[in-house]
Amino acid sequence: MQTSQIRSSFLEFFQSQDHRLLPSASLIPQDPTLLLTVAGMVPFKPYFLGEADPPAKRIATVQKVARTVDIDNVGRTTRHLTFFEMLGNFSFGDYFKREAIRWAWQLSTTPADEGGWGFDPDRLWATVYTDDDEAEQLWLDETDIPASRIQRRDANDNYWSTGGSGPCGPCSEIFYDRGPEHGPDGGPIVDESRFLEFWNLVFMQFETAGNGDPKLKGSDDIVGTLPAQNVDTGSGLERVAMLLQDVPTVFDTDVFRPMIDRAVDLSGVAYTGTFSAAHVADEDPDPADDTTDTWLRVIGEHARSTAFLISDGVLPSNEGRGYILRRLIRRAVLSARKLGTDQRIMTPMMESVIETLGDAWGDLKTQGNLITKVAQAEEDAFSRTLSTGLVMLDEAVQATTAGGGTALDPEAAFTLHDTYGFPVDLTVEIAREKGVTLDRDAFAEHMEAQRQRARAATKSDRQAASTDVYKEAFQAAGTTTFTGYSRERDESSVAALIHDGAIAERVQEGQNVQVVLPRTPFYAEGGGQLGDHGTIATPTGRIQVTDTTAPADGLIVHHGTVVAGEVASGTDAELVVDHARRASIRRGHTATHILHATLKEMVGDHAAQAGSAIDAGHFRFDFPHFESISRDQLGELEGLVNDRIADNPEVVTREMDQQAAREAGATALFGEKYGDTVRVVTIEDYSMELCGGTHVGSTGEVGLFTVLSEGSIANNVRRIEAVTGPEAFGHLAKERLIAEQVAQILKVPTAEAPARVEELLGRVRDIEKQLARARQDAVLAQADVLAESARVIGDAKVVAGVVDGADHDALRALALDLRNRIGRGAVILGTAKADGKAQMLAALSADLVEAGTNAADVLRPGATVVGGGAGGKGDVAQAGGKDGGKIAEAVRVAADEAAARLA
Ligand code: SER
Repeated sequence: MQTSQIRSSFLEFFQSQDHRLLPSASLIPQDPTLLLTVAGMVPFKPYFLGEADPPAKRIATVQKVARTVDIDNVGRTTRHLTFFEMLGNFSFGDYFKREAIRWAWQLSTTPADEGGWGFDPDRLWATVYTDDDEAEQLWLDETDIPASRIQRRDANDNYWSTGGSGPCGPCSEIFYDRGPEHGPDGGPIVDESRFLEFWNLVFMQFETAGNGDPKLKGSDDIVGTLPAQNVDTGSGLERVAMLLQDVPTVFDTDVFRPMIDRAVDLSGVAYTGTFSAAHVADEDPDPADDTTDTWLRVIGEHARSTAFLISDGVLPSNEGRGYILRRLIRRAVLSARKLGTDQRIMTPMMESVIETLGDAWGDLKTQGNLITKVAQAEEDAFSRTLSTGLVMLDEAVQATTAGGGTALDPEAAFTLHDTYGFPVDLTVEIAREKGVTLDRDAFAEHMEAQRQRARAATKSDRQAASTDVYKEAFQAAGTTTFTGYSRERDESSVAALIHDGAIAERVQEGQNVQVVLPRTPFYAEGGGQLGDHGTIATPTGRIQVTDTTAPADGLIVHHGTVVAGEVASGTDAELVVDHARRASIRRGHTATHILHATLKEMVGDHAAQAGSAIDAGHFRFDFPHFESISRDQLGELEGLVNDRIADNPEVVTREMDQQAAREAGATALFGEKYGDTVRVVTIEDYSMELCGGTHVGSTGEVGLFTVLSEGSIANNVRRIEAVTGPEAFGHLAKERLIAEQVAQILKVPTAEAPARVEELLGRVRDIEKQLARARQDAVLAQADVLAESARVIGDAKVVAGVVDGADHDALRALALDLRNRIGRGAVILGTAKADGKAQMLAALSADLVEAGTNAADVLRPGATVVGGGAGGKGDVAQAGGKDGGKIAEAVRVAADEAAARLA
């Protein structure tokens, strides 16, 4: 049965049981506690927990799933995968164990021509959780399975949760007996390779805190009972396909084999379909037992997960899901290198995945370009890492063996790993080939020390913040109330002053100061927006504020200098924000939101904000993207953003609770922390962001937006720098002035200037060519004079001379011409070049060469004079030297040498 038929029979079956069919959710879960969608139920967690109402009480899906806990097993076992499709039916407080069991059995055993999967019922086994008598009884009541093929298993096997916090429950699994050739009798509790699990029915009833190893989850970890009894089932499509297609492994199914075949084509290494016996027997496989088959399978498998992750918006990086993706790509590339190929594999592998799965998963096709480009760029970057690493490793290995040692310096291995991203497994492998070993424990110590250092660094930063003067200032002032959303002036009182890092009662004119007050209209740097500037006036003095920060939650600090009088703690203060600067920042901040939304619409959802800095006058905006934005695209982007500015909708800011904001679809910016109540900034229906910054009232106030530059700041990360409002006008006005000046000089209207410049440049190129030709002619014209001045030695002649303004070609042409004219003899020419260096050339007649005289030998004494050496073979030789001033003498010396040899 083709995989497409397995998918459709599953969905049709559950649709006929009144299930609503929903499309797969993204591999990037909404749920912040999970890195990836690790099960079909992930998108439905809020429904199980009673936090939201499901759109239907019965749902069925084919969900994209990524799991990397078993990544090291991939390729080494017949069944482990990092990406698979999960068929699942779900009940939210509707049916429970009875129907879940009945329907799973029914679909599994109904013959294929009647819409089922056609498994032989005599080969099916079931397991239930230790004390789940009810489930066992239901298997007996609802199906034909005999009690002898129902087994009980503990929480290690028959209790399910995502591994994080959330719903959980006991489960019941269905297994297929692949026959005695695959292992011993005795059912799933004896052998999970012969008895292959293909459907897991989870009876979701409890809530877990998720504090331990997901596989060891048991009733101990349960912190509550769910509002209803639910069902979550999951059946791995690739496994069902393997069984129904009667192929030995998931890698032989129709959704897999094409990728393995492509890897075979690329590497030229045949696939035998065998598994290392040591791996099959071992749950903790040793890389030493890997075979070429293992690597082919890794390439094929990781290609699938790579394509799906990128199509859902994951990009390679050093953390989180980006790191998972990077690891997958690197493992695939390393496997290819181990197979002995240096070919780039990612583009063809991605194409293979798109061809094979693009009909079922349309996103693969629409995002095809992104997928191949990102994967290929990552492979290329990694290949460079590998080359650098290999050279360094080679040096380290040589240093070891040169000293007679056999143990690699663990620090070298650590540096390779830590600084260059060079995989330690590879280090071990390559070193081993040279008879050098790595002490893995010592290496692990370096890793641990590094972790400690990282931890200590974050801790000491935090400690500093909490122990230093800010703590005292905070105690004096309490939480600072920020009033700057609605005003730029406010009154308050000086709660604490800091001078030179210590609390001060008074600070004098000319001294630096930090001020803390109970309330302030000054915005503290955050969310990409820089801190406000302005003045703080007290009855006795005035402070010029040049920065505002929030060193701790709830504490706003104004940094500046006392510019008049002195200021004292406890006095009244009038705070005035620099209006022009704030206005400019406001324009910039609203513009970044418009830019963010517009950019995503233009190049794709992956172009999410990765950082920004909004200063007065200009801002920068960073985003992940795999190629540059073309000049045309930039022009289009500017146009669209300016249209949205001119449309002038209101910029609406609202406070709401975090959950409501997420549900409304607000962009939660990764890595930023938000309290329970969040501020949401909305512009029409195209932009909704969680944002604490200050904005204009309606977009028209931004006035004008123009891009200053676009470029790359890191692998796959681009930066746009832009200006808004009067600054944008100023920028464009300056450019216009330049254009006008150019047009004036050219004496054409501005619009014609580019064509005119093109034309002029063309003429300059022509003139340069003519000039070069004229120079050469002038050089050649000296032939007559030189030929007449030849020294005659018997039947031979020596022509020698210094030719001004000759380049190498001209000099050579002249020398050959002269040689023709003299018949027998030697020609020696030289020139002093524009850069002050000397150039010489010697050409001998053929008979001299035959008689054993070499042109380079003739030239050499002369070359020595200008500080150079002679080279060339046979009848023509050339020489260069640094001392152009001595060229005349050099030519004479060489000519004398020629004469001496002729005499
Ligand atoms: N959540 C369970 C699993 O992933 C059943 O869908 O196995």
